Amino acid sequence: MAFAHSASGHPAPLAPGQNAHTSARPLDQTLATLGKRAGVRIGTAVNTDALADEPAYTRQVATQFSSVTPENVMKWDAVEPSRGSYNWKAADQLVSFARAHGQLVRGHTLVWHSQLPSWLTNGSFTPAQLRDILRKHITDEAGHFKGKIWQWDVVNEAFNDDGTLRDTIWLQQLGPGYIADAFRWAHQADPKAVLFINDYNIEGVNAKSTALYNLVKKLRGQGVPIHGVGVQGHLDVQYPAPHDIAQNLARFDALGVQTAITEADVRIPLPSDNTKVEAQNQAYSTLLQGCLLTARCTDFTVWGFTDKYSWVPSVFTGEGDANIMDADYQPKSAFTVLQQDLLLAGRHR
Ligand code: G3I
Repeated sequence: MAFAHSASGHPAPLAPGQNAHTSARPLDQTLATLGKRAGVRIGTAVNTDALADEPAYTRQVATQFSSVTPENVMKWDAVEPSRGSYNWKAADQLVSFARAHGQLVRGHTLVWHSQLPSWLTNGSFTPAQLRDILRKHITDEAGHFKGKIWQWDVVNEAFNDDGTLRDTIWLQQLGPGYIADAFRWAHQADPKAVLFINDYNIEGVNAKSTALYNLVKKLRGQGVPIHGVGVQGHLDVQYPAPHDIAQNLARFDALGVQTAITEADVRIPLPSDNTKVEAQNQAYSTLLQGCLLTARCTDFTVWGFTDKYSWVPSVFTGEGDANIMDADYQPKSAFTVLQQDLLLAGRHR
């Protein structure tokens, strides 16, 4: 028979349907504290509406995490909804919140094909005009936050899964050189920010991560200021966890660039059950351990921490429960698993 540990330390029989992992109690220390001991920042994406309106949400952001990423409010459509008219308010508030709580900020994101303002996508600009528009956007946004951003996701999701470059407005109009240009412009605007390229489905060694590796190596060889690789970590329990993540991150480490898990979540086809929860725990642990095993992996960020606010159900019909706390802010077993991994790593670092 399996046993869980009760508060008194004595084993308590499991209720039907429970198992040892799912009934583990969270440790008292916060993720931020345990992460500090283990040498990594633990971050979360932040929904700034919830941060402003909901004290229970705000309390968790303030206490559990040592870095924050704006989930949406630094994206181009949010900061420049009409051409030439900037709205920095929500992003500025998050930057102030982070400063007040001793947290660092991951800027997200300067160049992406999604969440572009309609004036840009509907305009019929020439390539030369688009290049000027992109340079101005990067210069203005990185300049606005100069000195306040720890790591910028300069270029987001530039690759297809087969390793070719994604067919975006930027590739079509500016050619592949837009990536190097974006990093150069961002570096000019904020020389101290650590500049990342960020993508999904690059956790393990595969065609996409290899293409990214080759690009980063080439750009570094050309002196382009690219300093980090962000591995998003959007996983699904239906697919195998990326058990070769440490092997993958090691090759980026050898290039001398930082790495980070930037958007971790693990979605579950609903209804959930213990087997799926075990797979979720394992997947979160695989991601975090991959980072902990990599010398230059600086941070592990979850893409939201509560099931109350998750992008997953609206995009993957019938899936959810992807986060480390439930919708009532109760820590799930994945939360405890992360704590345990950090505690263990902290003892060995
Ligand atoms: O702000 C508008 C609001 O004015 C409007 O009324 C409402 C109606 O749909 O939409 C609101 O915008 C939504 C926005 O989130 C802010 O809530 C968009 O529709 C919605 O598409 C957008 O989704 C975000 C998504 O990126 C956009 O592609 C998710 O919250 C965000 O979690 C997700 O994050 C991405 C990362 O940036 C990159 N990696 C993948 C990750 C998950 O898709």
